[in-house]
Amino acid sequence: MTARQKLLEATRSGNLATKNRFGVAPMTRVTATEDGRATETMTRYYERFARGGFGLVVTEGIYTDQAHSQGYVFQPGITDEAQARSWQPLVKGIQSHGSLAIAQIMHAGGISQGNRFRDTTVAPSAILPKGQQMAFYYGKDGYAMPTEITEAQIAEVIKGFADSAARAVEIAGFDGIEIHGANGYLLDQFLTNYTNTRTDQYGGSTENRIRLAVEVVKAARARVGSGVPVGIRISQAKVNDYHHKWANGEADAAIIFGALAEAGVDFIHVTEFEAWQPAFGEGTPTLVHLAKTYAPNALIIANGSLHDTEKAEAVIADGADIVTIGRGALANPDLPIRLAEASELREFDPAILGPIADIKDSELAL
Ligand SMILES: Cc1cc2nc3c(=O)[nH]c(=O)nc-3n(C[C@H](O)[C@H](O)[C@H](O)COP(=O)(O)O)c2cc1C
Repeated sequence: MTARQKLLEATRSGNLATKNRFGVAPMTRVTATEDGRATETMTRYYERFARGGFGLVVTEGIYTDQAHSQGYVFQPGITDEAQARSWQPLVKGIQSHGSLAIAQIMHAGGISQGNRFRDTTVAPSAILPKGQQMAFYYGKDGYAMPTEITEAQIAEVIKGFADSAARAVEIAGFDGIEIHGANGYLLDQFLTNYTNTRTDQYGGSTENRIRLAVEVVKAARARVGSGVPVGIRISQAKVNDYHHKWANGEADAAIIFGALAEAGVDFIHVTEFEAWQPAFGEGTPTLVHLAKTYAPNALIIANGSLHDTEKAEAVIADGADIVTIGRGALANPDLPIRLAEASELREFDPAILGPIADIKDSELAL
């Protein structure tokens, strides 16, 4: 079988089975109602990826509680019955084409820039986040100074993830859960040495800094049971620090992926700017390869500039089971069909995301 045929073949690992190896990467589009319900526009937007042949669709990051988790205005949530129900038509739309619907659940922590429940932010430590708020999500200027989250609040965060996972499966009907452990949001703030200077069990060593992610995975698993896929997204780079690398390189990768494997994840979704590049500089393995090495029983989902099919084939050969496409899917919601038919792919046009990153009518017509 050629690598291209392999991309279009069904795959199965544990309790996760997809009709091909193409997924849509999670993308925040700030198109929910102000009170966090999924809208009809979102339903139409997500359905067309499934119609276009993607075997798996991961939603944008969905906030998990009515305290500090919300990151953006018009971000969807799954914190109560009304929000959870609003996802039902969207999930059905994806599933009606034989695709899996995965809910990405997230807590924005110190880089929250829009939250209708709180006007303060929390983070592992009271350290000013790097960078600027994102203008295309209605942000401006720098981030607020967060307060150090207490152990009691950490317990609430874990409960928020677990309850949201349960609502996503039981009420909304999602096929699986992706915990957002990447890109600079709360769980990644715990993992990152310079945003976490705690001296308790959640700070210090890499084992301690990955502990909250492990506890969230276990709590979500306990609520949804062993039959529902539960995974986590992991990255080095952050929305407010593109070039961050884990200080101890492969030794950190071994601890991080090993701990998540031990926690019982079904999949690990790794993202790098270019997924095929060495993780820690020339001559080192890719993050995909390291995830596969240290979490051999987890399905590995790879993301990062993989609309280039030759690169997608290379990361499959390197150990990934599924690839997810972000910008390339915005330009080509029917990318898997185009590949099967050997048609040309459209170039991604960044204008889709400006001035605000909300879903445009022009996209729905693609
Ligand atoms: C508009 C936009 C919104 C995004 N929102 C999220 C998000 O909610 N959660 C997440 O984990 N990643 C998010 N990402 C990152 C993408 O999932 C993906 O990692 C990134 O686009 C790189 O993949 P690509 O090269 O295929 O575009 C977002 C990316 C874009 C372009």
